[in-house]
Amino acid sequence: MEDRPILRKLYDDFQNGRSFDEFIESADEFEKLMSYYWCAVREVETKFRVLDNQLSLGKKRNPIESIKTRLKSFQSIQGKLQKLEQPLSCNSIENNLNDVAGIRVICSYVDDIYMLADCFLRQDDITLLQKKDYIENPKPNGYRSLHLIIEIPVFLAEETRMVKVEVQLRTIAMETWANLEHNMRYKKQLPQEMLSKISDMLNECAAMSHSLDIKMQEIHDIIENEQ
Ligand code: GTP
Ligand code: MG
Repeated sequence: MEDRPILRKLYDDFQNGRSFDEFIESADEFEKLMSYYWCAVREVETKFRVLDNQLSLGKKRNPIESIKTRLKSFQSIQGKLQKLEQPLSCNSIENNLNDVAGIRVICSYVDDIYMLADCFLRQDDITLLQKKDYIENPKPNGYRSLHLIIEIPVFLAEETRMVKVEVQLRTIAMETWANLEHNMRYKKQLPQEMLSKISDMLNECAAMSHSLDIKMQEIHDIIENEQ
């Protein structure tokens, strides 16, 4: 149970007077909730795979390079709720967290990101809750990506649940940069001087990788228009 903080917390509640039945019920509820997030992320993944397939028929090329999906770990859920000073419960997870279910769609070209996002958001069962365009408005460190928080219905035997999913769309260059920058965050033990040098270098890389994305889009457009 050491690596399952939510179960640990439920167990502590149980030790502090909640009945065993209550403990089992809450644990079941958590597992169910996680399975709904998993269903939602699979539905969204299928939608993008269908779009990729359909768009590849006419153009003979696939706009999507790869897709990654993940569910937030118990530890991260607990950590984020603690930071938000919110209780650890299923209701609280559903109300306070937008990124329990996450999908990342990686494209070769910037225009494909917007085209795919438009096709996806036009679908009847998708409700857009939030859009952050870090491609148009990159973060000060140079981070670029298009972020959508959407809600999608998951059809269960007895009910329909609306489930939130975080969708990140980025190019291969943006993905490589974000992974590199993410790694640096876990290297806090490096001397301050080196960290600040790496930060500067990453900032430079972000600018270079953006120029690369623009140039490659230009070349791609020329080739497409010739065909
Ligand atoms: P979180 O609390 O981290 O989820 O951020 P937020 O609610 O302010 O949302 P935002 O849209 O800014 O970021 C959501 C996610 O985008 C993060 O969890 C990361 O996966 C990614 N992200 C945002 N900013 C950065 C960044 O500067 N570097 C990297 N590597 N990833 C980032
Ligand atoms: Mg997040």
